[in-house]
Amino acid sequence: MTGLADMQRRRFIQLSAAASLAGLMPRTGAAAASTARIALSPGPARVNIVGPPHPDTGVWCYNGTVPGPVLRGRQGGRLAVTVTNGLAEPTTVHWHGMRVPNAMDGVPYVTQSPIAPGAAFTYDIPLLDAGTYWYHPHFNSSAQVGRGLAGALIVEEPEPPRVDRELVWVLDDWRLDRKAAIAANFAHPHDLTHAGRIGNTATLNGKVRETVAVRSGERLRLRLVNVANARTFGLRFEGLKPRIVALDGHPVTPHAPPDGPGGDMVVLGSAQRADVILDMTGDPGSRARVVDGYYRRAAYRLVDLAYTDEPALRADPPDWPVAHKPNPLAEPRLDGAAYHKVMLEGGAMSAMLARRFREDRNTRAFWFMNGAAMTEMKTKVPPLLTFKRGTDHVIDMVNDTRFEHPMHLHGHAFRVLAVNGKAHPHRPWRDTVLVPAQGRTRVALRADNPGDWMFHCHVLEHQAAGMMGIVRVA
Ligand code: C2O
Ligand code: CU
Repeated sequence: MTGLADMQRRRFIQLSAAASLAGLMPRTGAAAASTARIALSPGPARVNIVGPPHPDTGVWCYNGTVPGPVLRGRQGGRLAVTVTNGLAEPTTVHWHGMRVPNAMDGVPYVTQSPIAPGAAFTYDIPLLDAGTYWYHPHFNSSAQVGRGLAGALIVEEPEPPRVDRELVWVLDDWRLDRKAAIAANFAHPHDLTHAGRIGNTATLNGKVRETVAVRSGERLRLRLVNVANARTFGLRFEGLKPRIVALDGHPVTPHAPPDGPGGDMVVLGSAQRADVILDMTGDPGSRARVVDGYYRRAAYRLVDLAYTDEPALRADPPDWPVAHKPNPLAEPRLDGAAYHKVMLEGGAMSAMLARRFREDRNTRAFWFMNGAAMTEMKTKVPPLLTFKRGTDHVIDMVNDTRFEHPMHLHGHAFRVLAVNGKAHPHRPWRDTVLVPAQGRTRVALRADNPGDWMFHCHVLEHQAAGMMGIVRVA
């Protein structure tokens, strides 16, 4: 973050004094174990992001709100979502993390034709797994997601673990100018070759917020979703003891946040989610800061949890169980699994990119997976990996670049086995995993969902500049 942008952000924060209750978000969709019919219309709108006296921001969003409506269904049911394109350019909707049939995956040219302006397409989504997911366009993603097209998708457990209240926090990061307008410099070469489009204004449910009201003694389930193009969030809940109970939707052994610089953060790379159980143990009338300290020199206060003056709901945290029932995922057998190394290369300060530039000064291919850069979605490229349906695979992602990459595979969840050679204590199921700069991350999966699936970096500028490939399950 530049000093200027940082100052601007702080100014924005100071000036937006409106205390607001988060979780007050439009809700769509019945939580019934049947088909919920939903209409989504992506289109332009003007909304206030930074808070008065700053002007409204021209965004692209679903159904006129940023983020889009929280879509909800019950595990075992379905969602039928009719998307009517109100944008001036084509779009699609991808159901990030959902194990959908390939034809419903929302990848232009690979799984469907893009939805033309004015046209409609209905997605029929089975809700196999409970948890916290999200939806976003997969067409011109850097600009479409970056201008505000994103929303949370919640699949409720038949018997959810007991909490007093649930909050959905959609975290985003915007690059705004002094008039609170979205900077139009998408696909800027610096963003394409470095850490992606990192913004200067972080929002919680579409706004810069001062406070979120909480009650002393209550137990919250926080559903965190990072919809930012490129920013990794590392949240520290000061004075509280958050417990992570699910990652990318899937239950994980409940544990204290072990991640990030300092080892005490809930870390969310672009597209990642975490479900966190939070016991509000502070006194009525007090406050607890939530700080994003992922980028050490640019730590900032995201929001204050502000206790109301109501008396504490209870003296001590409840002893209700926090573990969630696992989702019905097929466990890969590691002995006998095929091993695949995937090299991540390119980007600024790499010899590989310098060489490419010497060959072609006008190249837009800056990032490579196993030597190939895929800058457009199409099927007429050789797949990066081909898996026989029903077989087990270990993918070892080796990052020979100066940047971290949140790598996402469509249509499946994988177990994270190890990061930088260190076995992961919980082997979480994920659909997006951070591969540290100059590091490596090893995952395993059973390839049980047939089709051509995108496998790409979720820094959307890296994806646009080549860090993408197809995994074919046939
Ligand atoms: Cu969230 Cu291929 O995307
Ligand atoms: Cu990347």
